[in-house]
Amino acid sequence: MRHDPHTLIEGCLIASFAMNANACYIYIRGEYIREREALQAAIDEAYDAGLLGKNAAKSGWDFDLYLHHGAGAYICGEETALLESLEGKKGMPRMKPPFPAGAGLYGCPTTVNNVESIAVVPTILRRGPEWFAGFGRPNNVGTKLFAISGHVNNPCVVEEAMSVGFEELIDRHCGGIRGGWDNLKAVIPGGSSVPCLPRDVMKDAIMDFDWLREQRSGLGTAAVIVMDQDTDIIKAIWRLSKFYKHESCGQCTPCREGTGWMMRVMDRLVTGQAEVEEIDMLLDVTKQIEGHTICALGDAAAWPIQGLIRHFRDEIEDRIKHKRTGRVSAVAAE
Ligand SMILES: Cc1cc2nc3c(=O)[nH]c(=O)nc-3n(C[C@H](O)[C@H](O)[C@H](O)COP(=O)(O)O)c2cc1C
Ligand code: SF4
Repeated sequence: MRHDPHTLIEGCLIASFAMNANACYIYIRGEYIREREALQAAIDEAYDAGLLGKNAAKSGWDFDLYLHHGAGAYICGEETALLESLEGKKGMPRMKPPFPAGAGLYGCPTTVNNVESIAVVPTILRRGPEWFAGFGRPNNVGTKLFAISGHVNNPCVVEEAMSVGFEELIDRHCGGIRGGWDNLKAVIPGGSSVPCLPRDVMKDAIMDFDWLREQRSGLGTAAVIVMDQDTDIIKAIWRLSKFYKHESCGQCTPCREGTGWMMRVMDRLVTGQAEVEEIDMLLDVTKQIEGHTICALGDAAAWPIQGLIRHFRDEIEDRIKHKRTGRVSAVAAE
């Protein structure tokens, strides 16, 4: 399937026309300078060709497409924080309801989608919905962009059929796991916010929403992070805790206080300087954050820790016990 600026612009046009919208905004992180230059050049070309603007493509319908550069805050990807940012305010998620479909950008009915969702629209219209629905298992149909990073031989971004097997995905596109399949330790299958899964589960994994949800993880953004046996998984999850603490917008208490609290406990779990009882206390705090915040960043901060404790509790306990007996090598946090 084509994933280029022109297809995205075409998708924006089609989707906006279908919902009677005269304006569409693409929000791109400001650091992606080359990408935004390429996209802006394509938008300019489309304006010059009369495909955008007044009487777009001679349809009698006016349509403007704007490219907006963010300033690098992760939270500005959350749909209502994105709307605030577009309006020139601080990127803080809004309370819902009202949902953007009722009152979104400047109070107008608005739909927010990932560009991947929009960029597939032209191809689906050209080749037909049956063709698109022919990929993947029922309820999980279509194709997906998988961004595979970590300990594989060839990290890459690849479009694959939904429900592809994990092993097939890695062997076909990434040249296998670094050091072979026996060297696999764990995988975060859907971006930094979803719980990690251990090798035994991932070996037979079906990469779709339903299967991964049944394993208490998720497909999320399909940003697959592969970790081999050399990985200090406690430190890896600590790093995510640090990230979420940094990115919390701070407007709701469970997230603002909880992300810092969790990170500080994780600091100590990395070095083993904690009590075993603190593992359950930490788990309890993740449950108090999950589902109790304005946006899903709170969940995103809680889930990686829940996955760590669910699957690697032994490793955390061992580190604490070895620290007690002086047998841990110093695993200093960054
Ligand atoms: C903290 C946070 C960050 C997010 N970041 C992004 C992002 O960078 N890009 C994105 O498309 N959606 C992001 N989302 C999800 C959006 O809120 C929204 O659900 C999504 O854009 C809907 O598009 P889709 O239905 O096409 O997937 C984020 C959500 C949260 C809670
Ligand atoms: S959950 Fe965190 S990021 Fe989201 S609104 Fe609350 S404080 Fe802000």
